[in-house]
Amino acid sequence: MDDLMPWGRGTLVTRQGGGGGGEPPEPARSEAAARNLPFYHAPVLLAEVVALLEPAPGKLFFDGTLGGGGHSEALLQHGARVVAMDQDLNALKHATERLKPYAAQFCALRGNFRNFPQIVDETGVSGFDGMLVDIGVSSHQLDDAARGFSFMRDGPLDLRMDTESPRTAADLVNTEDEAELMRIFFEYGEEPNARRIARAIVKARTAKAIRTTFQLAEIVSIAAPKRGKRHPATLVFQALRIAVNDELAALHDFLAAAPRWLKPGGRLAVISFHSLEDRIVKQTLQHLAAPFIDRPEWPEARKNPDCVLKLITRKPVQATAQEIELNPRARSAVLRVAERLPT
Ligand SMILES: C[S@@+](CC[C@H](N)C(=O)[O-])C[C@H]1O[C@@H](n2cnc3c(N)ncnc32)[C@H](O)[C@@H]1O
Repeated sequence: MDDLMPWGRGTLVTRQGGGGGGEPPEPARSEAAARNLPFYHAPVLLAEVVALLEPAPGKLFFDGTLGGGGHSEALLQHGARVVAMDQDLNALKHATERLKPYAAQFCALRGNFRNFPQIVDETGVSGFDGMLVDIGVSSHQLDDAARGFSFMRDGPLDLRMDTESPRTAADLVNTEDEAELMRIFFEYGEEPNARRIARAIVKARTAKAIRTTFQLAEIVSIAAPKRGKRHPATLVFQALRIAVNDELAALHDFLAAAPRWLKPGGRLAVISFHSLEDRIVKQTLQHLAAPFIDRPEWPEARKNPDCVLKLITRKPVQATAQEIELNPRARSAVLRVAERLPT
């Protein structure tokens, strides 16, 4: 093993973008400890991920979304080593504890996977046999009212995965102008009532700042009453989460950097949960796997200088009915895998 990774030394906490240590602000830590919530999250498409990434002794994997540690654990159980990352300190702490039996094969880093090249580079690792991101929030994050991810639980309107990041959802809804709120709801939530909801928020906040999940859910429910099965605030909360955590840009950055970190034959696996993310994954992988590109204005197709991958899953892999019955969250999960071409 010729890298500098601190295997067996537990979590190495780094700042976003690498370098230095970092503790979360006091409230985030004490709230979680005071409520003493058990951490749980059922990993989705676990058997499929293992079958497609083929973990084995001697192989090294990157798990950019450690969460509850379920996917990492499966890779470790097959004898592989794993460098894992999460921007949520609670998740890192929990998973590091859970994966203690594999300490000699496992290392957890704190940070946003969009910055993984800088963070991983500092450790001396230069290539992976497989890389996984299972994007979105964990069940634990959703169920923890203090994190503000769910309109089903009353709590501060926060929605940050990284509790050190500067801007909460409350900051956003209380300061952005109506046009920007409308754009966020429309672009990131594909919310048909984006305009009406943005207007209602701006009106409501002039009387009283919007600080809690229930406050916002009520404003949205009055502005755009329920139609169909979905709670009226579903898409607004999805949109705010994406905006607060800059999720789509993070995914773009990760996908742009990941192929260069795969060894020849190494595989990249991405699990996404809604069409905005899956579209980015699908289009990026298709581009990186296209030997030629053609444009109407060109006389003939040209060699694609970005072609470094081949697609392993031509169609997205989805959960079986059996998995969905056990874990309804798996219903919207979509897995795509591509493989690094030989250089
Ligand atoms: C769906 S859960 C992952 C679950 C995990 N695969 C498991 O088996 O338990 C997503 C996790 O990724 C983290 N996350 C989401 N986006 C991230 C990002 N851009 N950088 C780092 N962590 C991220 C969240 O904090 C959350 O803990």
